[in-house]
Amino acid sequence: QAAEKGEYRHFMLKETYEQPSVIAATLEGRLADNRVLPHALGAAAMELLPKVKQIQIIACGTSYHAGMVARYWIERLAGLPCQVEVASEYRYRKVVVAENCLFVTLSQSGETADTLAALRFAKNAGYLGSLAICNAPGSSLVRESDLSLITQAGPEIGVASTKAFTTQLTALLLLTLSLRRAHLPDPQAKDVVEAELVEALRSLPRIAEATLKLDTQIEVMAQDFAEKNHALFLGRGSHYPIAMEGALKLKEISYIHAEAYPAGELKHGPLALVDDTMPVIAVAPKDDLVDKLKSNLQEVRARGGELFVFADPDSFLEPEDGMKVIHLPAIHDVLAPIIYTLPLQLLAYHVAVLKGTDVDQPRNLAKSVTVE
Ligand code: G6P
Repeated sequence: QAAEKGEYRHFMLKETYEQPSVIAATLEGRLADNRVLPHALGAAAMELLPKVKQIQIIACGTSYHAGMVARYWIERLAGLPCQVEVASEYRYRKVVVAENCLFVTLSQSGETADTLAALRFAKNAGYLGSLAICNAPGSSLVRESDLSLITQAGPEIGVASTKAFTTQLTALLLLTLSLRRAHLPDPQAKDVVEAELVEALRSLPRIAEATLKLDTQIEVMAQDFAEKNHALFLGRGSHYPIAMEGALKLKEISYIHAEAYPAGELKHGPLALVDDTMPVIAVAPKDDLVDKLKSNLQEVRARGGELFVFADPDSFLEPEDGMKVIHLPAIHDVLAPIIYTLPLQLLAYHVAVLKGTDVDQPRNLAKSVTVE
């Protein structure tokens, strides 16, 4: 295995750096000039997607966070109601299945016991059909689903998921755009929104590459975390799940207790925790909510909280006393969750290295949880 790591010290770092190329591989053969290719989700999808009236997404761990981002995309761009739930909850409660609902599972391995059990339950529960977005083409999840969309992340060895997550997001955007098109009044007509997003998707590998160049700055920032016991991650909208993923990465590999909150909820509890021993990490892309986020950050500053912000260059967020800011490359706001994930992965990685933990095999965790 040492050889496979190449120049990298850990698989997690190697896999983080592979993201530009595996995102490109996940898009490969699935885009036309200004639209997602109709067969991107397989021939059967072309018949099924126009009938879909709602979406139920089921997943665990990092894959669940990808599902949470997709909910924002599907409701905004395809106009379809979307629910997301962790498999271990879904499979043990009384579920009311909505009419013409597509059951979507997300999984890197395709063998997670709870996700698989949820799919098996769903098959007899009255869903319109099932789709697996998965990184393992031969897995049980793919074999047992009606449709599949394979992410092209390649083998992921590090227990903490990195490239599987960003390729899931890439695939979920392809699903979102396919659902959108299936519900257009004229599904053959050019759609300017789709055309703009397809162009933005094409630039994603390049922007991911540029974002990874911030690694040295992030490594310096990580020094402020090595002695901390807690951290709070904030985001709004589709970046709330990205804050959750950032917190999960830090927990998993550095063993620092981390929580994520939608920034608008700060005043309903977590603000009581904020003092100068509590680092607060915020993701601040340029979107409709950035001004609201900035006032949330002021609430943290006013209580002596130390801020670490990943921000758009045009967000007018600049470093000041008590606030460190790293500017990311400009990115279309729909695609920003994919790009804003990268610095959070790198931050967790460098903190873990400083703490001397077993980055690729964190204590008590497994890569794939195949038993309940
Ligand atoms: C484990 C892994 C996580 C992963 C989760 C779901 O907890 O440590 O990294 O996100 O399982 O796995 P899946 O293969 O279904 O995406």
